[in-house]
Amino acid sequence: MIHYARCGQVSRRAHAELHLNGELQAEHVFTREGFDDLYSILYQKRAPTHEVKVSPLRMVSGFQPSSGGVPQAPLRAHYRTGKLVARQGQDFLGNRMILMQNSDCTVGVCHTETQQEDFFQNGDADEVFFVAEGGGTLETVFGELPYLKHDYVVVPRGVPYRFRFSSPQRLLCVEAFRGFGLPKPFLNHRGQLKLDAPYNERDFRIPTQLLTDSVVSPNIVVCRNRTLSQHSYTEWPYHVVGWDGFVYPFALNVHDYKPKTSTYHLPPTSHCVFEAQGFVMMNFVPRLVDYGEGAIPCPYPHSSVDCDEVLYYVEGDFTSRRGIEQHSVSWHPAGVPHGPHPEKYEKSIGVQRTSELAIMVDTFAPLCAREEAEVLRDPDYHYSWNTKEHL
Ligand SMILES: [Fe+2]
Repeated sequence: MIHYARCGQVSRRAHAELHLNGELQAEHVFTREGFDDLYSILYQKRAPTHEVKVSPLRMVSGFQPSSGGVPQAPLRAHYRTGKLVARQGQDFLGNRMILMQNSDCTVGVCHTETQQEDFFQNGDADEVFFVAEGGGTLETVFGELPYLKHDYVVVPRGVPYRFRFSSPQRLLCVEAFRGFGLPKPFLNHRGQLKLDAPYNERDFRIPTQLLTDSVVSPNIVVCRNRTLSQHSYTEWPYHVVGWDGFVYPFALNVHDYKPKTSTYHLPPTSHCVFEAQGFVMMNFVPRLVDYGEGAIPCPYPHSSVDCDEVLYYVEGDFTSRRGIEQHSVSWHPAGVPHGPHPEKYEKSIGVQRTSELAIMVDTFAPLCAREEAEVLRDPDYHYSWNTKEHL
């Protein structure tokens, strides 16, 4: 997804034999968009096609098909996801909660303390996680990917993985149903990141250590068409000895993102980090703010009439909001005017830096609220722009 990468042992030519200890290794070609787009080739002891049992799994809330969502007028919404308590005995899958979704993506959160035992394979979507709290190692069939607090962790569709962690995790979870990657304007016509892109190829971390037999599991939980099933093997089916190609999981720390600054206010799109079919992701990182004479660093009130805007507040003093907590998620539907809370606008004049850290998802199709997230909703948010003189 970023550049060509290679790990472990591969055959001298694609689709040619590779013998290890006298055994022919199985080639496993992992392709996108049929056979026409990016691909990787893994080499493993045996093709992963020998399940001995496939069992349907009880649906967990993070993957249930939407029941049509919560009917509502377009209101500015605020979810206090910091109040979400990890459910004991439920792992990463059981503790995922989707807040809102459309046909292009889901936006959700996960607060979990329980280790994931089975690997998980999302056949519906590419996934990007933002690690608000926690860290550890993402185990994947491409190898181990150590991750840190404030990393983005990106897992391509269909890659079996599991999180291993030693501390509670708070993740923002975004599923992209129709492709996910780096914004095209960041790339030159040959596919290399341009010099003025906000990151460089070296900022991305990929698996460099293949899994050892001691860390694997005989089960893979598969999600396809919003249905979960457990695929069981007699042994771990991905004894990978090497791979190469352009499809693999990767991590990027948000603090390695180089923000743009200007004399006067730049639109959110200047903070873009990832691009997908139907939505884009931005990040607001600690930075110098607008330094022109008389500049107002706070965002201007606006009506973005073609996008639903979702913002996850990671930490820091968010420039434009009051009543927002760490891990809050705000949702401003397309066309509903919004902007800074009144006193935030005036007080931002003369400010030189911001410590805010927030992740934004802008979708082009309307999002629909998930019913199970209603318990987190702040009922007063839509009217929180009113001051005493308005009432
Ligand atoms: Fe906005």
